[in-house]
Amino acid sequence: MIIAANLKTNLTRHETASYIEEVNRCALASKQDVLVFPAISSLDSFDTKVEVGTQNAYPTQKGAFTGEIGLEQLDEFGIKIILIGHSERRHVLGESQEFIAQKFRYFKSQGFKIVYCVGEPKAKREAGKAEMMEYIAAQYAGIDTEYENLIIAYEPVWAIGTGLTPTLEDIEDIHAELKKKSSAPLLYGGSVKVNNIKDVLSVKNVDGVLVGSAALYAEHFCTMIQYADEIESNN
Ligand code: 13P
Repeated sequence: MIIAANLKTNLTRHETASYIEEVNRCALASKQDVLVFPAISSLDSFDTKVEVGTQNAYPTQKGAFTGEIGLEQLDEFGIKIILIGHSERRHVLGESQEFIAQKFRYFKSQGFKIVYCVGEPKAKREAGKAEMMEYIAAQYAGIDTEYENLIIAYEPVWAIGTGLTPTLEDIEDIHAELKKKSSAPLLYGGSVKVNNIKDVLSVKNVDGVLVGSAALYAEHFCTMIQYADEIESNN
């Protein structure tokens, strides 16, 4: 399974290095694919089993894009994984589907592993399944769902950082729908933590998780990695 941590705007460069070192010890003892997305200022060349990716980058090799980083800055550290379409970039930072698709095309052309996020806000969830699925379907516009290095993460916006999660039945239902759109590995994200990860990973068509706040402590994230191993060995 794929067990991923999105550290968002947390941890210093020094703290991130210690975090990755600790998580790597757990990853080495585990069968899971472990990904970590640190803040951009904490990127470095990590010689680890843990795969380190960037939370964002501009679709360019280099140029005049103040405040952004491009391929040249990622290449410096051998970073070949990127998170695209995260709800905070869509809703807080205002990225359009068109721009997200442009990023996708660019990083696909560079062979990046892309963790592509989709998910509905609360109002769409409450509007009923048809409207919700239509909203999510629009987030696939311009995305190559057959790209070999694609991983999709279903992250309901209302479940991110709120402690709320869909029911396991709802996760199963939506994941079944999303698997019809793409056979790429499909992660669930949104308030995953130590005490619910086993349930979430046991749901059909859940191929892993993308964890935010609960992954900020290496010890907790390591427990989640161990739980994934336990679940796999029970199956
Ligand atoms: P939380 O786990 O804090 O809800 O965040 C999920 C997320 O956004 C991962 O990308």
